Amino acid sequence: MTYGMKLAGTGKALPCRLLTNEELENYMQTSREWIESHTGIRQRYLCTEENILTLAAQAAQQAIEQAEKDPSFTREKIRVVLAATSTGYYAFPSVAAMTVGALGLSEHVYAADLSAACTGFIYGLGTAASLLASGMGEYALIIGCEEFSRILELSDRSTGMLFGDGAGAAVIRLEPSAKQTFFWQVWTRGNEEWLSCPGINCGRDVFCPEQKTEPSLIRMNGPEVFRFAVKAIPQAIDQVCALAGKAPADIDHIVCHQANSRIIDAVKKKYPGLEGRFYINIGEYGNTSAASIPIALAEMDEKGLLQSGRTLLTVGFGAGLTWGGALLQL
Ligand code: UT7
Repeated sequence: MTYGMKLAGTGKALPCRLLTNEELENYMQTSREWIESHTGIRQRYLCTEENILTLAAQAAQQAIEQAEKDPSFTREKIRVVLAATSTGYYAFPSVAAMTVGALGLSEHVYAADLSAACTGFIYGLGTAASLLASGMGEYALIIGCEEFSRILELSDRSTGMLFGDGAGAAVIRLEPSAKQTFFWQVWTRGNEEWLSCPGINCGRDVFCPEQKTEPSLIRMNGPEVFRFAVKAIPQAIDQVCALAGKAPADIDHIVCHQANSRIIDAVKKKYPGLEGRFYINIGEYGNTSAASIPIALAEMDEKGLLQSGRTLLTVGFGAGLTWGGALLQL
């Protein structure tokens, strides 16, 4: 089956509380210079008054309003809502279901959360496109949203300076046509050693309710994840380009998950001449996990970079381990 897929709208939402590297020096043994030179991060936003549900709804609302500029779109036509997240507000109901309610979307909708850590938005895009292509409807809303501040210890030098909260969203439209405009591929390797968060497995014993449980916090072996990412990203770029019958040089914009600017710098070296096509905004937001790619897309959209005819390649990697890429002809 061949089908076209178009980007119909993008949106993003960030909490109002800004935490700079300078302020972070009060919470952990570090220096603003170390953080910026080792990660590219200058600041991040963390939830205080907001939460993941309000951020997801705000980003989704913005993406829908943008899609509404096309008179043939109505929000009732959204038949798929996927929220890629590892930090949902509740274990259940899902962020996606709560967003359907918050925005008054049609009940005639497939709404679910998707857990693929920092690769979540790629999994979400591909899954949503597949559901539309299978006949589920014409429009899908994909949200990438995280509230990592709930699983973060600011005094932990291996993670506390890296992550930020935020949400990004995209509306995509199925265009039944002869020309395929969307290609994606993902990989998964079971490994909890380098990057994990206990979640409900935090030591609670149903027979000993008085027993103290550990808070569920992120655990990461940064150098191992770094090495993994530097191999995984080029694999995704090369294989998704091959699927689409393109060369990396045919891609106008490459948007990698924003985990560390040094990871992207290392990948750039493998694509001489294409360095300027990699979009980097980690300095401003930190690593927002599943939200980093859709936040970047919304920002690029605001700057007028996502022009019709251009080719966009998004690449994610993270816990799972998971990694993958999605190519969209705009
Ligand atoms: O989206 C999820 C995927 N996650 C990632 O992609 C994370 C990938 N990994 C990374 O981004 C990096 O590994 C980190 C930023 C987490 C760490 O940077 P690194 O260059 O790999 O540091 P390291 O752990 O190898 O430590 C190097 C040095 C050590 O000092 P010595 O032993 O060389 O004297 C550490 O003690 O840097 C020191 N260090 C710090 N210094 C100040 C480690 N963390 C910090 C810190 N502040 N926060």
